[in-house]
Amino acid sequence: MTSALHALPALRFVDQGGPQLSAKKGVLELQQMKRAGEKIAWLTAYDYPTATFEEQAGVDMILVGDSLGMCVYGYPGTVPVTMDQCIVHCEAVRRGAPNTFVVGDMPFMSYQASDEDAVRNAGRFLKEAAVDAIKLEGGVRVISRIKAILDAGMVVCGHIGLTPQSSGQLGGHKAQGRTLESARLVVEDARAIAAAGAQLLLLEAVPPEVAAFIRAELPIPVLGIGAGAEVDGQLLIVSDVLGTFQAFTPKFVKKYADIAGVSVAALTEYVRDVRAAAFPEDEHCYHMLEGEEERFAAFVEGGV
Ligand code: KIV
Repeated sequence: MTSALHALPALRFVDQGGPQLSAKKGVLELQQMKRAGEKIAWLTAYDYPTATFEEQAGVDMILVGDSLGMCVYGYPGTVPVTMDQCIVHCEAVRRGAPNTFVVGDMPFMSYQASDEDAVRNAGRFLKEAAVDAIKLEGGVRVISRIKAILDAGMVVCGHIGLTPQSSGQLGGHKAQGRTLESARLVVEDARAIAAAGAQLLLLEAVPPEVAAFIRAELPIPVLGIGAGAEVDGQLLIVSDVLGTFQAFTPKFVKKYADIAGVSVAALTEYVRDVRAAAFPEDEHCYHMLEGEEERFAAFVEGGV
């Protein structure tokens, strides 16, 4: 199965002219985008159809985030998410977006206990789901995990600021770096991650002033979710962007569609049609083949 995933053709469907060969962006291209001042567009995806839409839209990176716990499974947070769930969703996304840089998100307790756990579980993302990089939460305190994964030859994206897996310690889902003391901790984490050799960094829910400072200082792409405009690229949760997640909407989200509204309206119409016997109509039926209706009528009349 793994080899079949890795063998997926590098095809991209473009607006005109059908499928075309196109080079997939790797970490070097993403780093080049930073140097050229080109913004990187990053979105989460959890399933095959959404991944196909995102690849067609031309996103540069896809994150199969552990936010799938809330957005797909209806958990109250990310903590219950398992490695097996992440792998299944990464496989689906990989199939939908063979030509896009995919990042697998290490779920809670897949790396917290030891460097060995971190390497083994990061390796599963690559071997079983053919992702391009893995992301893990934390700064200074997970540096040995980051180094161990890098030593095993994988691409790492750090994630600091608001780290949902440890939101209990942070006193909830709260923005970080809003005081000098807190900002210094975020900067120390960022420096430690870059010094360890991580190739990418995500800042979540930190003030734009702090994010801009980190982005200017670090040589690696610094992406933001809720970190303002002065970063190398933006990440949003696709369920927020498309309006499929209804429980709450963070301040930093821009909603580009109301798929929940469109879906509920369509499904309400379906229910109405069924109850009114307005669906199905003749065009939705498979009629008997020519001549078979008469034979069937005879069979019915014969009562056999
Ligand atoms: O799981 C996820 O989608 C994330 C983002 C919230 C940064 O980690």
